[in-house]
Amino acid sequence: MEYTYILTEKKDRVGLITLNRPKQLNALCDGLMDEVGAALADFEADDGIGCIVITGSEKAFAAGADITMMKDFSYMDAYKGDYITRNWEKVKTCRKPVIAAVAGFALGGGCELAMMCDMIFAADTAKFGQPEIKLGILPGAGGTQRLPRAIGKAKAMDMCLTARMIGAEEAERSGLVARVVPADKLVDETLAAAATIASFSLPVVMMIKECVNRAYESSLNEGLLFERREFHAAFALADQKEGMAAFVDKRAAAFKHE
Ligand code: CAA
Repeated sequence: MEYTYILTEKKDRVGLITLNRPKQLNALCDGLMDEVGAALADFEADDGIGCIVITGSEKAFAAGADITMMKDFSYMDAYKGDYITRNWEKVKTCRKPVIAAVAGFALGGGCELAMMCDMIFAADTAKFGQPEIKLGILPGAGGTQRLPRAIGKAKAMDMCLTARMIGAEEAERSGLVARVVPADKLVDETLAAAATIASFSLPVVMMIKECVNRAYESSLNEGLLFERREFHAAFALADQKEGMAAFVDKRAAAFKHE
């Protein structure tokens, strides 16, 4: 499929989506988010893909929702058009793991897009922020909800109320980011991690993603029960037989993703 605002690539069972609106620092217009949704749906339907990476450019992962697009919105434009939900939802609902590889600015909707992914790998140049307050609005794609869960109330309040940006080191220290890597290694290291994930049993990978997300959406007891059910279900997989047989035989497992 031909895209205008993104580039896509497939390698080693990994689907790579590169946001490609460099002049606007990857500002997230509807067209771009529609394309991200379409590419995610495409990779999700592809049995040859086990993990997805979303990245931007060296200067910006994404500088937020497109301000020029929404500056004259009325309430009804935003509400009727279901702005933010309409075409951002696919990032949240994708059942395969999605990793954000962030270099440069991840601001406003850019930070929120990164947080919608399952984990964030950051270049040492990454800068995260929720500067919406400077525009007379507030975060609208999860900033006030996912940030406190990721980094705690104090830092989330600081970022959302003062518009202070945090760098990669602080983001890692605070739990927003899984790994910080030198900028020139960001994409390679993220793709390598994604290829490792994609080499494991896809149904198990999907179950783990579902279980970890449960930790955010249910009580501990509910989550533990959910995990136990998924754990028991794993014994129905051919990949479980293969994984354990391979361990006993002292050889590498060859998962068939079933
Ligand atoms: N929307 C539209 N265009 C944007 C943009 C955005 N969010 N961010 C940057 N751009 C454009 C600039 O207008 C500029 O375009 P021109 O060359 O045509 O003037 C171009 O990208 C380059 O930007 P700058 O010249 O500003 O680059 P800089 O290096 O001086 O500054 C920056 C970089 C600090 C990221 C600055 O561009 C900036 O502050 N951008 C806006 C960040 C922001 O407020 N994001 C939140 C958006 S609202 C939101 O996301 C709501 C939500 O919760 C979903």
